[in-house]
Amino acid sequence: MSELVLVVRDLVAGYEPGVPIVRGASIAVAEKEIVVVLGPNGAGKSSFIKAIAGLVPVESGMVQLAGRDITHAPAHNMVRLGLAFVPQTENVFPLMSVEDNLKVAGGILKPKEVPGRIEEMYATFPDLARHRRIAAGNLSGGQRQMLAVARALIVHPKLLVLDEPSAGLSPKFVSMVFDMLTDIRKSGVTILLVEQNAKAALAIGDRAYVLVEGKDRHEGVASELWNDPVVAELYLGQRPAASVKGGAA
Ligand SMILES: Nc1ncnc2c1ncn2[C@@H]1O[C@H](COP(=O)(O)OP(=O)(O)OP(=O)(O)O)[C@@H](O)[C@H]1O
Ligand SMILES: [Mg+2]
Repeated sequence: MSELVLVVRDLVAGYEPGVPIVRGASIAVAEKEIVVVLGPNGAGKSSFIKAIAGLVPVESGMVQLAGRDITHAPAHNMVRLGLAFVPQTENVFPLMSVEDNLKVAGGILKPKEVPGRIEEMYATFPDLARHRRIAAGNLSGGQRQMLAVARALIVHPKLLVLDEPSAGLSPKFVSMVFDMLTDIRKSGVTILLVEQNAKAALAIGDRAYVLVEGKDRHEGVASELWNDPVVAELYLGQRPAASVKGGAA
């Protein structure tokens, strides 16, 4: 395996002390990989990546980004450390224009770098260039996800972490989002992705982990996992408990 961008070891995290939601989860993401985290509703997938991004308190375990310990780094430092997190919802400022969203996101760059970097984002996402003066809240769902991803990429992150980027999108936009992630990886960005849409995510991913009850239960090559009977049993809705919706995203 090439250099590891992210190493998470035995992570225990939760919203209240003594009530762990993430219960000893371990994953690794190598440079330029797309790694997918799958799991039933309520398994703790969102909590897991939020804990990695400093948004859920960590009780024990370790998170390393490019060899640096970031376990207890506050969320507002993560972008500077190289970790860009795209939440499932509320990932753009709806009342601001597309361009102002990008300007704000580029806030940690040197001011003179920002215009050029915005133009690079427009070159990557021509739809955003066409809508640069439009309020982000008036974009289509697919365009809004594109803006959320551009906001994350503008600062050259080492790792892009996304929570269900295809959730709530129509099929046309779902494939647009997955094509976009494939292109982003081609440009050299490492990606960690939580997805409900297991089939589409495994089609673009290199490896995947299955998280169940806050713990990584299974790991494998993405192209093989879809046909793996363990995954079918754990994840693909064959147990009644797996179909129960788990609460907050
Ligand atoms: N802000 C919160 N405060 C307290 N508990 C929470 C919070 N967010 C989530 N939880 C709880 O943590 C558990 C795991 O939820 P989480 O959203 O991490 O799961 P998930 O795997 O992302 O689920 P889904 O597939 O529905 O997105 C659930 O029991 C949920 O109720
Ligand atoms: Mg979730």
